[in-house]
Amino acid sequence: MNDTQLLELLNSLSVEEKVGQLIQLSGEFFNTGAMAVGPMQKLGISEEMVQQTGSVLNVLGADKVIQIQQEYLEKSRHKIPLLFMADIVYGYKTVFPIPLALGGSWDPDLVKRCNQITAKEACAAGAHVTFAPMVDVVRDARWGRCMESTGEDTYLNSVFAKAMVEGFQGDFTPGESLASCVKHYAAYGAPEGGRDYNTVDMSERRLREEYLPPYRAAVDAGCELVMTSFNTVDEIPATANSWLMDEVLRQEWGFDGVLITDYAAIAELVAHGVAEDDQDAARLAMNASVDIDMKTSCYANQLRPLLEEGKISPQKLDEAVLRVLKLKNRLGLFEDPFRGASVMREQELNNSMESKALSRQAAIESLVLLQNANDTLPLSKGSKIALIGPYADNQDLNGLWAVYGDKSQVVTLKTAFEEMLSSEYFQCTQGCELLDSHSYEGLGDFGFFTKEQTSLNSDEDKERELNQAIELAKWADVVIFAMGEHTLQSGEAGSRTDLSLPSIQTAFMEQVLPWAKKSVLLLFNGRPLVLTDVQDKVDAILECWFPGTEGGHAIVDLLMGHANPSGRLTMSFPYTVGQVPIYYNGFSTGRPPKTSTHSVRFTSRYLDAPNEPLYPFGYGLSYHTAEYSKLEISNSVLRSGESTEATIEVHNPSAVGGDEVVQLYIRDKVGSVVRPVKELRGFQKVHLQAGESRTVTFTITEDLLKFHTKEMEFEAEEGDFELYIGKSSEEYLTAAFRLEK
Ligand code: NOJ
Repeated sequence: MNDTQLLELLNSLSVEEKVGQLIQLSGEFFNTGAMAVGPMQKLGISEEMVQQTGSVLNVLGADKVIQIQQEYLEKSRHKIPLLFMADIVYGYKTVFPIPLALGGSWDPDLVKRCNQITAKEACAAGAHVTFAPMVDVVRDARWGRCMESTGEDTYLNSVFAKAMVEGFQGDFTPGESLASCVKHYAAYGAPEGGRDYNTVDMSERRLREEYLPPYRAAVDAGCELVMTSFNTVDEIPATANSWLMDEVLRQEWGFDGVLITDYAAIAELVAHGVAEDDQDAARLAMNASVDIDMKTSCYANQLRPLLEEGKISPQKLDEAVLRVLKLKNRLGLFEDPFRGASVMREQELNNSMESKALSRQAAIESLVLLQNANDTLPLSKGSKIALIGPYADNQDLNGLWAVYGDKSQVVTLKTAFEEMLSSEYFQCTQGCELLDSHSYEGLGDFGFFTKEQTSLNSDEDKERELNQAIELAKWADVVIFAMGEHTLQSGEAGSRTDLSLPSIQTAFMEQVLPWAKKSVLLLFNGRPLVLTDVQDKVDAILECWFPGTEGGHAIVDLLMGHANPSGRLTMSFPYTVGQVPIYYNGFSTGRPPKTSTHSVRFTSRYLDAPNEPLYPFGYGLSYHTAEYSKLEISNSVLRSGESTEATIEVHNPSAVGGDEVVQLYIRDKVGSVVRPVKELRGFQKVHLQAGESRTVTFTITEDLLKFHTKEMEFEAEEGDFELYIGKSSEEYLTAAFRLEK
């Protein structure tokens, strides 16, 4: 349809039909049953309104979608197709590693390809819109939703935001692309105390400098939708925050796509205490130019009375409806309301060889080797391996937000080892439970994921497993512990105050470790953990996150040395939970412990812990080593409109080739406002053959130096800068330059 036809369509709609376009309901309204990824409640929406509804939440599967669409269109006066929207965050049936892991690949092109595969699979199942990417900057590991983000850094998240949107949307080819909805706008990743849904409060400068850019990058990449966040921003809930939605998003950034609320967020304005009732809440949201109401009856029941009372303008309503119609048109739904949904294509595409191969590659590149004392890894040929732990033979490797993931396809560690080694070299046992029985209480259910009952129920079972583990440890040359969080301990509403490994697991390891000649700890988790107490008890640690469908294969590839780890952390691992939020690019303070002239007592530090994390941003080991040398700047004075080049030589002296993530950080030494001690401003992932040396070049322009100045202008200020290039945020060479304007 062209714009005139869309306007004609809009003008032909009754108020109810217009309002309907702004409502999103889930499966139970369409007799398909609902997947619970949020609280279920009775909505009080009339049958007629259900028939006018514009979009459906989290119902997928070609047969279901086709049937619902057909029945809906048969009864519909204007034949405006339904939009099917769903949480397809890091894979549909084929699951890729969680985004926090994918971030660790430092490979936006790889992530883009993962999303292309996801888009194809999900299209075949009838999806039109995905609620992804989630690009919230995350610096507090207590918050369970760290797993959904690529990490703590604004620049890196922005790079990934663009790649992820491009991967999902491509050029909108029907059957191969999804419209992308960036979330959660804004600053949802900074709740006080790391408690989900809690207050977010920060200066406008900080918001603009550190939290908004990744959403902006997604908008600039053309994402079609934006989701409002649950939290407040400057004491106004995002869903009612017209400064955030209208002024910044729509006017400043020029976003003219669809703005959808998060689950039930309009009704929650009442609980927040900024709206008296549902009607007041609907008024606030509509006036903040929020288009679609996800899963409440506020718009359904209140927009008409609000119009009649003149509390919202007909123009506001029309603008919102037109945006929804434009999205449907952009997706080609008026021409083909099924848009590639096909049971046959589902069968062809889901978990295809190609998808699995990419999932394996993504996991190989995402996992992070945190420790490798005495070159314990890769495992020597002919070693006898004992694999022990609750993740040893466990298909729960998809993480919480893979709500459609096909668990039956997940390759466990045991399976992957057994494909390669006979029982003479490989033995496996569960050893212990994931959690104590009391720790299961309160986890709840999520999507199709329900907490499972413990499998070692009696004391005899537990003792038998412990003895078996000890016997295997005695037999083996190396013991591999497969430990971690329960899937339900991270993700939405998965906040925790204790970030250590579950105590049942550490207590078990204490009992087995004395028998282990060498030990490797594999970690499965959705957030940085506090590993201070376990790291010196094991030889090697491989952070596996939730690695997805091909997790088992990828991990075994790395352990056996068939692949070389190259993942680098994108979120700092705290030394102790008392340090969080912790991130690499904070400010200096007036009393920096290392350089202050004050006596130590009066510097900015903890009495009982270091300021530094246990493992910093950008950190990760490989089987090769890399030497960085000869950092040079082509011109130590940078003038406006010109550029200067920073070069560094990277040498791999070892006998194996591998990937290096060469990282560029910049520090603005004096600003009109305080500036971070360093900020990531570029990176290159390069492959170095054994013995190879390479020169890596970064181009420095004035654009890389811009920030929100004292006057809130986004510009670079004249003066001195330091530049750091190296292998992590804490290991680098330094050079200096000056900006003259
Ligand atoms: C709530 C979550 O915050 C959001 O990320 C998700 O997209 C919606 N529910 C829909 O399931």
